[in-house]
Amino acid sequence: MRRIVVTTALKYANGPIHLGHMVEDIQTDIWVRYHKMAGNECHYFCADDAHGTPIMIRAREEGITPEELIERAKREHKADFDAFMIDFDNYYTTHSPENKHFSELFFQRLLKAGAIVKHTVEQAYCEKDKIWLPDRFIRGTCPKCKAPDQYGDSCEVCSSTYQPTELIEPKCSVCGTAPVRKESEHYFFRLEVFGTKVKELIDSGYTHRSIGNKLDEWFKSGLKDWDISRDGPYFGFKIPGEDDKYFYVWFDAPIGYMASAQNYFERAGVDFEKIWNSPEYEIYHFIGKDIVYFHALFWPAMLMGAGFRTANKLFIHGFITVNGVKMSKSRGTFINASTYRKHLDPQYLRYYYAAKLTGGIDDIDLSLDDFVAKVNSDLVGKLANLASRSGPMLTGKLDSMLGELDEDGTALVKNIAAAKADILANYEKLDFAAVVRSVMALTDQANKYVDDNQPWALIKTDKEKTRKVLTAVLNSVRMLTIYFKPVLPVFAEKIEKFLNVAPLKFNDVESIIVNHKINVFERLVERIEQEKVNAMLEESKPAQAQPVEPAAPQMQYEELAPECTIEDFTKIDLRIAKVISAKKVEGADKLLQLELDLGFAKKNVFAGISKYYKPEELVGRKVVCAANLKPRKMKFGISEGMILAASLGDSEASVLGVDEKAQPGYRIH
Ligand code: MSP
Ligand code: ZN
Repeated sequence: MRRIVVTTALKYANGPIHLGHMVEDIQTDIWVRYHKMAGNECHYFCADDAHGTPIMIRAREEGITPEELIERAKREHKADFDAFMIDFDNYYTTHSPENKHFSELFFQRLLKAGAIVKHTVEQAYCEKDKIWLPDRFIRGTCPKCKAPDQYGDSCEVCSSTYQPTELIEPKCSVCGTAPVRKESEHYFFRLEVFGTKVKELIDSGYTHRSIGNKLDEWFKSGLKDWDISRDGPYFGFKIPGEDDKYFYVWFDAPIGYMASAQNYFERAGVDFEKIWNSPEYEIYHFIGKDIVYFHALFWPAMLMGAGFRTANKLFIHGFITVNGVKMSKSRGTFINASTYRKHLDPQYLRYYYAAKLTGGIDDIDLSLDDFVAKVNSDLVGKLANLASRSGPMLTGKLDSMLGELDEDGTALVKNIAAAKADILANYEKLDFAAVVRSVMALTDQANKYVDDNQPWALIKTDKEKTRKVLTAVLNSVRMLTIYFKPVLPVFAEKIEKFLNVAPLKFNDVESIIVNHKINVFERLVERIEQEKVNAMLEESKPAQAQPVEPAAPQMQYEELAPECTIEDFTKIDLRIAKVISAKKVEGADKLLQLELDLGFAKKNVFAGISKYYKPEELVGRKVVCAANLKPRKMKFGISEGMILAASLGDSEASVLGVDEKAQPGYRIH
């Protein structure tokens, strides 16, 4: 038996849980459940990340104390995680006595080891709000591209990074006044002291090889001292021996993993230090790719300096995109977990994410059409259907009694059982997509067995033979459910109840149930209705229209193209057209195939905008078409024109709109 401690990144207390966070917790929860079902001892810890300036400011804005704010956030977060069946052993908070204890302990030990030094720094301060402003709370004009209203550390338009002092007309993002610069003494962690050891750790396979390059870059550019203190007012733990200085939130946050574990083990009467530092236990952290620096460099170095062991491995996942693009409030694709669960069963998402997760660090796309299709065709149409086409027949017509298996049935279940080693190996390496693929292939085989034997017809002539067939089918359902149990815990519970068996473990695939009484069949999982998805998106849209994207994208095209004459321009016959139909092009991610009505003619056009528009968003719209372009033969057909769209590089595109008065066929001059 292995002994394992697992953590997911702590969730900021100043916002709700959304479907992006959820990918991490679902990935981890599946892995933890897999270990528990395989008979290992496995503990899963997380917490709210409760400290820092954003939380202090948010509480001020709401007129409550930070303590009240983080209390409420934790309650809401926990309710979301419960609904998504995330089975933490402890969901704690970083604002805890255990975390205070460990943070002070780390600080003292690092100080003693000579790994903490003091430097004077100059920082922005808002005299009106009486707060120190972290970079993200200063806004101003980008010194490089002059885009207005950018953060103090980086520009979202031209992606350059800079010091807040370089910003043109810096402002406090809370009250809008110009901040002043003040000097103050801060504590710095000398990361470099542990540079060699951390490098060795990374080289020994601490995390994904593919991020090794990024880390090498960091090592090469030199490990800088890291500011771990903040001046008051600040919401956090006071630094021992100081009147008004606090630990920076990112100092006590990873320590929060330990605090959550300690709080749990204490209650269980187990000595935490023995577990954390014991070679008998394996430790794993799961995080997203945005916080690698903290977890691959700072955190191991802090542990080394404070005399604690580092984790066995750091698992990193990619980011969620929705319909191919970053989650966006204006599109309604910034979906909160609480909104999702009002409309849809959390198991659908667990299933879909599992089908997408391979253990790599690539981004994961939640394509809503694909989500509906996959859940309906595979989970409902194949797996649940297997049970619902056999269960009620046995309970209704054959006294709920399983019999024995016939020869084909025996071969079927043997084949399913034989996949166990492979499936477990894929769970272990986080390749849940491979698990889903193989279990679905086995489900197909079981469905084929049903089709071959036609129990609904057979029952009219031979009841006992039918019992054998259904016994094989329900044994298949039992085994497939075992394989899927880490992904679909509630589904599995329903099957256990229906089949009248104890909670299933992986080893149970090695046995079959025969001559056994089962219970009434309960519906397992419903089909997804498209309207529910639409309602969820609708509810996720902001209440009032907001400025969609920050203004000023013009920088990218500041330079005009070479001059042209009016004759050049009129060579292009631009016409108003109406989109009659639009569809995705199989095999071409970017393309939409549009049928355009020009009044006097129809045209077929391929447009590279499928990342930005759903087909149904375009149907019925009037657009501008370059109509006399020479037809172009493409892999998927002939494109007979182009439609006009504006874009900002590769990140956004918008199809040009047309005034209501214009009719298809009108010429543009
Ligand atoms: N509080 C820090 C982590 C401290 S750990 C000692 C933090 N919090 S977070 O709430 O912003 O993010 C928590 C986790 O969710 C991170 O691992 C982050 O990568 C992940 N995700 C947040 N948005 C995400 C997506 N859109 N997609 C996938 N994961 C995402 O960072
Ligand atoms: Zn201010």
